[in-house]
Amino acid sequence: MIILETERLILRRLVMEDLNALFALYSNPEIRRYFPEGTLTYEETKEELEWFLNGHPRHPELGLWATIYKPTKQFIGRCGLLPWTIEGREEVEVAYLIDKTFWRQGLGAEAAQAIVQYGFNTLGLSRLICMIDPANQASQNVARKLGMTLEKEMEDEKGPFLLYAKSRSLAHD
Ligand SMILES: CC(C)(COP(=O)(O)OP(=O)(O)OC[C@H]1O[C@@H](n2cnc3c(N)ncnc32)[C@H](O)[C@@H]1OP(=O)(O)O)[C@@H](O)C(=O)NCCC(=O)NCCS
Repeated sequence: MIILETERLILRRLVMEDLNALFALYSNPEIRRYFPEGTLTYEETKEELEWFLNGHPRHPELGLWATIYKPTKQFIGRCGLLPWTIEGREEVEVAYLIDKTFWRQGLGAEAAQAIVQYGFNTLGLSRLICMIDPANQASQNVARKLGMTLEKEMEDEKGPFLLYAKSRSLAHD
């Protein structure tokens, strides 16, 4: 099921056949460097994939989606929208992870920008956030390109993170 399409990318629901490609990304320490859980095992990757097969179980319109590079039809990442409760407030995070061999070609920003539009215009969300490790410059650059601003420096049991946020502008209504 296709969620959205950009010039170079298709974002679609994850399917079981994505497991090996997803594991290749999740087992790479460089790609997982700023994730508190670090790399995932094959079993952990399978569990996460199964969790998202029909969208997020409690919010099927959200989830992580396979990110396919149109010119070669390759699986090059997983991006999407994730629900969280932060300090008692319901939030939706723009999530992005791209294969290292495709970094710095504008693909992370291309996916994230399309996800923001989808979140605001198609799903009618009023606010989107990113939670980012303070050392993750690439991710902060993507968040800034989305028009997000740094709202707060926070800390949870996994460590410190930056809360970037953007509200839907009236122009979108
Ligand atoms: C974050 C990530 C998705 C960015 O993907 P990408 O396709 O390389 O990003 P883009 O090419 O669209 O670049 C977006 C901006 O970030 C900048 N950027 C990209 N990589 C960077 C890096 N390593 N250091 C500093 N800036 C970087 C780009 O220059 C660009 O800014 P510009 O347009 O002003 O030049 C990618 O680095 C990634 O998958 N990282 C691992 C997973 C991860 O950490 N996800 C985020 C968790 S919060």
